[in-house]
Amino acid sequence: MTSADKAAPLRVRMRGITKQYGAIQSLRGVNLDVAPGEVLGLVGDNGAGKSTLSKVLSGAVVPDSGSIEIDGRTVHFNDPGDARAHHIEMVYQDLSLCDTVDVAGNLFLGREPMRRVLGVPTLDHAKMHRDARDMLDGLGIRIPDTKLDVENLSGGQRQAIAISRAVSFDPKVLIMDEPTAALAVAEVEAVLELVRTVSARGVSVILISHRLQDLFLVCDRITVMYEGNAIADRPIGETNLQEIVDLIVGHKFNARSARPHAEH
Ligand SMILES: Nc1ncnc2c1ncn2[C@@H]1O[C@H](COP(=O)(O)OP(=O)(O)OP(=O)(O)O)[C@@H](O)[C@H]1O
Ligand SMILES: [Mg+2]
Repeated sequence: MTSADKAAPLRVRMRGITKQYGAIQSLRGVNLDVAPGEVLGLVGDNGAGKSTLSKVLSGAVVPDSGSIEIDGRTVHFNDPGDARAHHIEMVYQDLSLCDTVDVAGNLFLGREPMRRVLGVPTLDHAKMHRDARDMLDGLGIRIPDTKLDVENLSGGQRQAIAISRAVSFDPKVLIMDEPTAALAVAEVEAVLELVRTVSARGVSVILISHRLQDLFLVCDRITVMYEGNAIADRPIGETNLQEIVDLIVGHKFNARSARPHAEH
C-alpha cells in the first residue's frame, strides 16, 4: 500500500454498531471497513447479522449505538433517503420490482422522464425506453425488449434490473444482499460480471452471499460475521474456502480471529 492509499479516507468506516431486537442482540459492536472501489464479501451463518448490518448502512435500520463515516465524514441515517443522499444504495433480496410494469418503467420508477404536450406534462415513453436501453447496454445487460413486463423475465434478468436501477442513482456504495441465491449458473455469472463492471467504475460493493465460491471470483476481501460480531477479515489472496468455512461455523473462533479486525 502506498502512502497515498493510506491518506485516502475509507469509503465506509463503521465502528461499534449495535442493534437489539427485544431479547436478541442482533449486532454486538460491529466494525466494518470498505475502501473506494473495493468489493467486500460479507459472510456468516444464518442470523449472524449480515442483513441487519447492511440495513444500518443503507438507512433502513437505525442502530442503537455506533458510528458511521462515509469518505471520512460522520453521517447519521434515519431512513433510506438519508443513505441515498450519501450515494449508498442497497439491492434487497426480494428485489422490490413492480411485476406489472415494464423494464423501462421499473428502471425509472418515481422519476419518469416527462415532456409537455399542449402544455400538459406527459410521460415521455420514447425517451424512457431509449434511456433504459442505454443504461442496460452500458452495463452489458442483455434484455431484448425494455417494453416487457418484468413478471415475464427470468430471475437473473430481474436481478440485473434491480442492480441497474440502484446503479442509476450513481452510488458510491452498492450493497447486494444474496443477489445470486436463486439464480441459475449462467445468471450467476452475469451478476458477478455486473459486480466487476460496477466496481471498475470506482463503486464500493458489499456482497452478501452464502455462495462462497462466487465471492472468491469477485471479492478483494472477505469479512466474516459470527453471532452479531465481525470476527475476521481476510484479503482474498490470504485465505481459502476452508478457512472461511471454519470461520463461519466458529471452529476458528480463537484469539487471532476474535480480535476486532480493524484496530485503527
Ligand atoms: N426486524 C427484526 N425483528 C426481530 N429480530 C430481528 C429483526 N431483524 C433481524 N432480527 C434478528 O437478528 C438476527 C440477525 O438477523 P439477520 O437477518 O441480520 O441475519 P443474517 O446474517 O442476514 O442471516 P441470513 O443469512 O439468514 O440472511 C437474527 O437472530 C434475526 O432473527
Ligand atoms: Mg440476511
